[in-house]
Amino acid sequence: MALASKSSPRVELARAKVNLALHITGQQPDGYHLLDSLVVFPQIGDRLAIEAAGELDLQVEGPFARDLTGPVEENLILKAVRSFAEKAGIYVPQVRLTLTKRLPVASGIGGGSSDAATTLRLLEDFTGTYLAEEELHALALTLGADVPVCLFPEPQIMRGIGGDLSAGPDLPPCGIVLVNPRVGVSTPEVFKSMEQRDNAPMDLMPEKFETLASLVAYLASCRNDLQDPAKALCPEIGQVLSELEADTRIDLARMSGSGATCFGLCELNAAMDVERALRSSHPDWWIASGPLS
Ligand code: C5P
Repeated sequence: MALASKSSPRVELARAKVNLALHITGQQPDGYHLLDSLVVFPQIGDRLAIEAAGELDLQVEGPFARDLTGPVEENLILKAVRSFAEKAGIYVPQVRLTLTKRLPVASGIGGGSSDAATTLRLLEDFTGTYLAEEELHALALTLGADVPVCLFPEPQIMRGIGGDLSAGPDLPPCGIVLVNPRVGVSTPEVFKSMEQRDNAPMDLMPEKFETLASLVAYLASCRNDLQDPAKALCPEIGQVLSELEADTRIDLARMSGSGATCFGLCELNAAMDVERALRSSHPDWWIASGPLS
């Protein structure tokens, strides 16, 4: 956590959440799906700053600010603040949160969930009020299925409807390129259009992947079960995946979450070159690259 003097804002990177593999293994009676997923948090994300103010306030700026179209009161960040205060038994903190929205909205990389989780962490530090881990986790789950995993931006295995978490493997140094064709896909619709919901879980995973090659070999035995239904609803996803697969520097290409963002894994020093090449051929796509962890 970045430290700052009392008057200057504390700033945190709300990292994108990428599902390197996402198996759908069942469905609960309430409609929610059971997952088995390897989740990682690359060094790519929204910027969130917190500072003292006269009242609770949320400012949104950055390239995707305009895509947050709902009333500001319904933003998950403000819901997180109010829920935190209620749970912690404190007054709603008088803070200004400034979100620089750099990740595309509703794009399968958990931007909103990561913003909410980062808000909870920033609030703990700002107020000096720390909830027990289980309380914080339960609070995060009330904000969304993907919020708990974003509290710990390191490799994790996600099961249940998203709230059953365990430590993921150590990852090798490598790069990731994220690509979104700037088309939105509805998560509930993707889940609804799945043909099979009782798929096999991921194979047993080692505690550590020493090399990119071993990580890619393992991931090749996995899938994203939402990829085909999302591709059917949004053919641009297929185009993104074809472009990533055609680049010889990319060792594995797959969709994250319910899409439409896809990722390519590559050597660390190749990531920026791949990003540059894709940008020149597809100036209309959102593309970002960085270290995988
Ligand atoms: O919890 P969250 O708001 O992120 O979920 C968005 C939608 O995704 C849900 O309304 C549901 O349709 C679908 N979903 C699901 N099973 C999960 C997580 C999400 O069916 N485990």
